[in-house]
Amino acid sequence: MSVNVIFGSDAGATKAVATRIAKHTNGRAIDIKAASVADFENCSLLILGSPTYGAGDLQTDWEAHLDKLQQARLTGKKVALFGTGDQVSYPDCFVDAMGVLYDLVVEQGATVVGFTATAGYDHTGSRAERDGQFVGLPLDQDNQSSKTEKRITEWVSRLS
Ligand SMILES: Cc1cc2nc3c(=O)[nH]c(=O)nc-3n(C[C@H](O)[C@H](O)[C@H](O)COP(=O)(O)O)c2cc1C
Repeated sequence: MSVNVIFGSDAGATKAVATRIAKHTNGRAIDIKAASVADFENCSLLILGSPTYGAGDLQTDWEAHLDKLQQARLTGKKVALFGTGDQVSYPDCFVDAMGVLYDLVVEQGATVVGFTATAGYDHTGSRAERDGQFVGLPLDQDNQSSKTEKRITEWVSRLS
C-alpha cells in the first residue's frame, strides 16, 4: 500500500503528527505547499490533515492551495482524514476543518475510511461530526497529547 499524508500546519503541531502518521503507515508526509496534484492521485491511500483556525476554517496553506485538491481525480479513491484542534478553547468548533476536507473529498467521489467514535473527547460541537462520529481522527496536541500515540496506532490499524 502506498500512502501519501498531505498536511498544512501553521505552528508545527500538525506537521509533527503528519510525520508520525507517515511513519506508522510507511507513507510520505507532504506539506500542502509543496504537494502536486499527482501526490493526491498517485497513492493507494490518501491521508489529509489540517488544523482548524479562525471560526472553524481550514489552515491558510490549505486555503491557498485548495485548487490542487479540487483538480485531483478522487473518484473511488480511499481517503482518510485527521484534524488537529483544541477542544478546551474551541469546544463548539472542534476540528471543524476536518469536516471541511470531508465535504470536499466526498463531493469529488472519494470513499472516506477511518471514522472515529466521539468517546474520550470533550466538545460541544464540530463540523467534523456526522451521525455521531468524527469523519476522521481528531488529535488535540494542546490538551491530550499523551493520548496521540495510541490514537494514531488504533486509527491506522483500521485504515487498511
Ligand atoms: C487563533 C487560533 C484559532 C483556533 N481555532 C480553532 C478552532 O476553531 N477549532 C479547533 O479545534 N482548534 C482551533 N485552534 C487550535 C489549533 O487548531 C491547534 O492548536 C492546532 O494543533 C494547531 O496546529 P498547527 O501547530 O499545525 O498550526 C485555534 C488556534 C489558534 C491559535
